Amino acid sequence: MAYTSLAQVDDLPESLPVLRLDGYDSDLSSIDEQDPFGRMTLVETAPPPEYGAIGKVTFELLDTPIELAQDLSGGCGGKIWEAAGVMVDYMLWKQEQTQGLFLQGKKVLELGSGTGLVGLAVAKGCANVDTMVITDQIPMMHLMSQNITLNKLDDRVQAKILDWGAPISSDIPVPDVILASDCVYLEVAYQPLIDTLVALSNKDTDIYMSYRKRRRANKRFFQMARKKFHLIEVTEDPKREQYTKDGLRLYLMKKKSQ
Ligand SMILES: C[S@@+](CC[C@H](N)C(=O)[O-])C[C@H]1O[C@@H](n2cnc3c(N)ncnc32)[C@H](O)[C@@H]1O
Repeated sequence: MAYTSLAQVDDLPESLPVLRLDGYDSDLSSIDEQDPFGRMTLVETAPPPEYGAIGKVTFELLDTPIELAQDLSGGCGGKIWEAAGVMVDYMLWKQEQTQGLFLQGKKVLELGSGTGLVGLAVAKGCANVDTMVITDQIPMMHLMSQNITLNKLDDRVQAKILDWGAPISSDIPVPDVILASDCVYLEVAYQPLIDTLVALSNKDTDIYMSYRKRRRANKRFFQMARKKFHLIEVTEDPKREQYTKDGLRLYLMKKKSQ
């Protein structure tokens, strides 16, 4: 994943210099367990975007970049998180490896989409998905919709409200595949997130979670999740060696039959 700063929303020139930010840069030693987000900007690969900044995000396996508005005024999800790159790279690699069969005809749902980067990139790279629904809380809806339109994906990607732990709206398709990137960070949200995963899944649903290791806090989430799900670390990803060094992980979760 590489990010190119473009411009402010109101001032988009034809082209601008490219700023390359390859890799999954991080420094785990500086993360505050009590307030991981307060410090995350210290370890990001790019300075936090200013209000309304638009950039281009390139991925090795995508022909054209994702255009992305970032805006932190609606919450922490309004910027790019590194675990998103892990998720997108794997999805696109797997789709290529399987000659497009991996997500063919699948109903894909993203939880805690933030900017929508993961869902947009996967929809763009995997044109044969059946549906792609990106979800988050109300304050993120405007940004997600803006990013769908920026990428001309209005006919293929839908943004919907899905608040973890709350009843799931009937207009959200039952997913075959759930994506959740960097959604494990806030202890109060662990049980609501697990409840939502339980409500959305059956034993055939593939739930992919990419996340940054945040010491004991993550461990507690996965202890809770293991009561309902089998957790399988994705080891086939060719980029795994690189991102694990940077404290990032990718798991496949499968619901236990009870
Ligand atoms: C660290 S951000 C990750 C954003 C995005 N997935 C990414 O990787 O770039 C966590 C996201 O989870 C969302 N989130 C937090 N609590 C939530 C809840 N209770 N229901 C739905 N989304 C929530 C936030 O709004 C935010 O967009």
